Amino acid sequence: MTATSLAIILAAGKGTRMKSAKPKVLHPVAGCSMLGHVLAAIDATPETSAAVVVAPEAEEVSAVVAEMARDARVYMQYEQLGTAHAVLAARQALEDHEGPVFVLFGDTPLVRPETLRALRTELEAGAHVAVLGFEAADPAGYGRLLQDSDGNLAAIREHRDCSDEELGVRLCNSGVMGFKLPDLLGMLDRITNDNAKGEFYLTDIVALARGDGFRVRVVTCAEEEVLGINSRVQLAEAEAVYQRRARTAAMENGVTLIAPETVWFSYDTVIGRDVVIEPNVFFGPGVRVADNVHISANCHFEYAYIGEGARVGPFARLRPGAVLNQNVRIGNFVEVKNSVIGTGAKANHLAYLGDADVGDGANVGAGTIICNYDGFKKYRTTIEAGAFIGSNSSLVAPVKIGADAYVGSGSVITKTVPAGALSLERAEQVVRDGWAARFREKMKARKG
Ligand code: UD1
Ligand code: CA
Repeated sequence: MTATSLAIILAAGKGTRMKSAKPKVLHPVAGCSMLGHVLAAIDATPETSAAVVVAPEAEEVSAVVAEMARDARVYMQYEQLGTAHAVLAARQALEDHEGPVFVLFGDTPLVRPETLRALRTELEAGAHVAVLGFEAADPAGYGRLLQDSDGNLAAIREHRDCSDEELGVRLCNSGVMGFKLPDLLGMLDRITNDNAKGEFYLTDIVALARGDGFRVRVVTCAEEEVLGINSRVQLAEAEAVYQRRARTAAMENGVTLIAPETVWFSYDTVIGRDVVIEPNVFFGPGVRVADNVHISANCHFEYAYIGEGARVGPFARLRPGAVLNQNVRIGNFVEVKNSVIGTGAKANHLAYLGDADVGDGANVGAGTIICNYDGFKKYRTTIEAGAFIGSNSSLVAPVKIGADAYVGSGSVITKTVPAGALSLERAEQVVRDGWAARFREKMKARKG
């Protein structure tokens, strides 16, 4: 049995370079806040509880933690005096805890659970401190990992405190660390702020641990996994990394992406097998797609379900609460919101289906609009199984079209249409034979 681990996420930094009113760690990558990604990685690591260190003014951050990870504890760091100082803000959590401790950064959202497990394995194999490092393409700004000849880590030197020779080291600190020290708190308390930035550096713990004869090991990962986000440019880089991973995972799970680089997934997108996705499709949060679905180019989806065998797009929009059952057809320029579309039902062109229940096999003609909103409230519309809505009709909610009924093209329907009936609402067509020629003659004469 392995001991329960504690993961402390540091998220009290100001993030001024984001130029944002929103706390940095709440900026999203693939539709989920950076902090949410870190919490999810911890959640996917067995036997690990989370503690989050936040700045006192960041109520929004605490709220996100409460929502995403109910059992995570939140600690305030009243002044931001460095990463060691930040860990000590969670002193209470450390005092209450006996097993391994991990430290992660809230602004480093792409760390995978596998990597956390690798750090833990290193601790189980006898290391007292395990540091996650990476070879930086450009090490500027990072702490450098200074190793002994025996492969142990001797110290971490922050960029600003490095000698010229040390600046040449490309192996850098990701910020993620694991500890299995008999007195982690005591050692953190020994860290001083005697350095170029005048901050209490967590990284100083490495030299202290070595001085006390403890074993410190490095685990390495790809640089892209530990991308730290300080600016919106880096946020977009993290998004790109995430999307690359998500596209690869989708294809490996049996999804055909014709132009993978143009398809955008959310952190929670679920897609079945033998789904084909044409170029330029955006999945907002909360979308599930069953097997054998074909999604044509240029679609936008959020909080929607696409059932087995459905065909959607091109240019379709599924908004929150859109549920398409099996073999539904949603064609070009069709918007569906908060509506359940029955098996085999079709809305193939230019329609708005909002707050509706559409029965199995119903056919919604081109240009059909459901008028679900009167400026104050929204109302539901029911189209029963097998009904046929003629093109360019308006269905003014609340209204019901019975099973197998027909609505004539161009109708504005405000009253129930009984099952099997035809309902028409438009002026009778007038025909005047020969009228056009007489009209032209008259107008020419008038013009002179
Ligand atoms: C840190 C590491 C550096 C590493 C780099 C990786 C230290 C001293 N340095 O440097 O070795 O290469 O990350 O990106 O640890 N934070 C707080 N409270 C504080 C200070 C920071 O919560 O008082 C949080 C920040 O919100 C952030 C994280 O700690 O999530 C890292 O802080 P930051 O100031 O960005 O450290 P770096 O200078 O990037
Ligand atoms: Ca940083």
